[in-house]
Amino acid sequence: MCIINLYINGRYHRLPLINGTFDKAIDISKLREYTKLITFDPGLKNTAITKSSISFINGENGKLLYRGYPIEQIIDKCSFVETCYLILNGSFPDYKQLKFFKEKINSFDSIQNKIYNFLDKIPNSCHPMAILSSITNILSSFDNSIKNEDSHFYLLSKLPTLSAMIYRKKYGLPNIFIKNKKSICYIYNILKMFFSIPNKSYEKNNHIIDALEKLLILHIDHEQNCSTTTVRLLSSARSNIFSSISAGINALWGRLHGGANQAVIEMLETILKDGGNINKWIEKAKDKKNSFRLMGFGHRIYKNFDPRAKIAKYVAENLIKKLNIYDPILDIAKNLEINTLKDSYFSEKKLYPNIDFYSGIIYQAIGIPKDMFTVMFALGRLPGWIAHWIEIKNNLEPIGRPRQIYIGNKKRNI
Ligand code: CMC
Repeated sequence: MCIINLYINGRYHRLPLINGTFDKAIDISKLREYTKLITFDPGLKNTAITKSSISFINGENGKLLYRGYPIEQIIDKCSFVETCYLILNGSFPDYKQLKFFKEKINSFDSIQNKIYNFLDKIPNSCHPMAILSSITNILSSFDNSIKNEDSHFYLLSKLPTLSAMIYRKKYGLPNIFIKNKKSICYIYNILKMFFSIPNKSYEKNNHIIDALEKLLILHIDHEQNCSTTTVRLLSSARSNIFSSISAGINALWGRLHGGANQAVIEMLETILKDGGNINKWIEKAKDKKNSFRLMGFGHRIYKNFDPRAKIAKYVAENLIKKLNIYDPILDIAKNLEINTLKDSYFSEKKLYPNIDFYSGIIYQAIGIPKDMFTVMFALGRLPGWIAHWIEIKNNLEPIGRPRQIYIGNKKRNI
């Protein structure tokens, strides 16, 4: 075992050095026992809270690996379901394994009337992310025949259907049940469930299917982001998979996390309505007295381009061209990117567009309304959340329970 000698208060303390595939870390779990000191790291900026083999980000070089494979290769060669299998199982499926995997997902396609009735009672004013997390949390109570080992197939089948139901109810479309046919691809099925109307099935558009497939692959996993860490924390408390994923959905909803995709389009629309003066908004974002930030910019780990943003930009441009539509928002976004790249505030702080910057433009082109954007992100992130939940469960990791630095009153009497 490698040891690091840490010199504190006139003494050397021998702390183990942990070697990951790429990173090294000092194991400080015994530091308090040896020195009475704890570590302080708000936002966990420099703290590894776990070991994981699911995905890896090289923030300095802007690289992302899923189970060791570069995201660019996966985007070129794999479907969402194949990538989902990879994330959950560690390797790509052969023909038979993929067939079994798809059949298992399809076997959970029915939605009980009790779920329709539950959804019907939720007011339309409720945000789709709040509805999705609530239904996910109680999903298992609608069907107590689900075996533990099937719960991830169950979630992969049910969450797209529930998302479509949430969208259809909110936007006044009749609830028609679209049966998952074995021959239909996962992504095409999502689009059919969202957009079919009675007597008129959703017209298949391969450009749209391809764009959504790629975007959801980009979302599948991303190390210890806020929602994934939330799911892992719940798993560490031995919470069930449904409540853990439900908590992950709520964490994702935040505007600094997945909710940024909705915030980006709202910001771009505001800039457009305001006359499109990009530099005015850049100056606002730089002004420390103003709380405004450029949504879709910056990332905790990437200190170079977010590789997902590069792909999402290409997918957005390509889709808009193929669908032959003009979206002035795309022009605003591209000009904003160009102007920030020239600005020293952004280059010195290493702030580049992140995945959420171009994703909303793709969703808008597909016809998905703004308040459903983060729901789509959740559908993409679901396999990652499940893989992390399983990793914690299988490794029997201890319950997540950080320390704090208490700054309140000393003991006092009433
Ligand atoms: N616009 C203007 N300034 C920014 C921005 C921004 N979008 N992001 C960071 N900064 C500045 C920040 O003010 C700070 O400046 P200073 O050092 O002078 O105080 C510096 O850059 C570092 O920022 P930070 O907030 O300490 O960095 P962080 O790692 O804690 O936060 C972040 C990362 C993504 C929350 C942040 O960059 C942000 O708020 N971005 C906008 C929201 C967003 O796009 N979120 C999506 C993230 S990617 C996908 C996902 O996670 O779902």
